[in-house]
Amino acid sequence: MPASSGAVTVRAVRRQDLEQVVALDARVTGLEKRAYWERVYRRYGHAQRGEQRLFLVAVAGSEVVGFVIGEVRDWEFGSPPCGWVFAIDVDPRVRQAGIGTRLLTALCDAMRSAGVRQLRTLLSADNTLILSFFRSQGMMAAPMIPLGMEMPPATGRSRS
Ligand SMILES: CC(C)(COP(=O)(O)OP(=O)(O)OC[C@H]1O[C@@H](n2cnc3c(N)ncnc32)[C@H](O)[C@@H]1OP(=O)(O)O)[C@@H](O)C(=O)NCCC(=O)NCCS
Repeated sequence: MPASSGAVTVRAVRRQDLEQVVALDARVTGLEKRAYWERVYRRYGHAQRGEQRLFLVAVAGSEVVGFVIGEVRDWEFGSPPCGWVFAIDVDPRVRQAGIGTRLLTALCDAMRSAGVRQLRTLLSADNTLILSFFRSQGMMAAPMIPLGMEMPPATGRSRS
């Protein structure tokens, strides 16, 4: 594969990449989410000036073989501007060839040049692959606690 030959470029996503991103995500997750990816592209694919939203793709020839999405968020959770990585995916056919590392490095470089000194993410507790990957990149457990709750539908009765 070109991916392991080093002929992989990491660059900002383009509109014409989106079909391949949708297909790659569908291949990895088993779910095609075209409308979702359209929204992600609108939000992260062409950030306005001053916004630090990043949607990068790894391309081998004309083929999209991976992507990463992240954003710099200011003062959320009480912390100074901090980089978040929301999604990273590499085509299963070309994994373990350094493409995930290149995508994350490119994201970090862009955030670093914007003055950001911290990167964070959230991951599913049972996703040991992504945990191994992020650990290999130097990420450690952060001093934060993720919380969640079920929100049953409203019953229609209001308390008076
Ligand atoms: C995680 C992922 C992005 C890694 O991409 P990749 O191109 O294979 O990563 P790299 O080749 O740069 O690997 C870097 C390091 O990650 C770790 N790693 C990668 N694949 C691994 C595996 N199968 N098992 C254990 N560790 C692994 C290793 O430490 C590796 O370093 P090494 O090659 O020196 O051992 C890719 O496996 C993927 O897309 N997985 C699915 C992601 C996912 O679940 N996304 C949804 C949530 S965002």
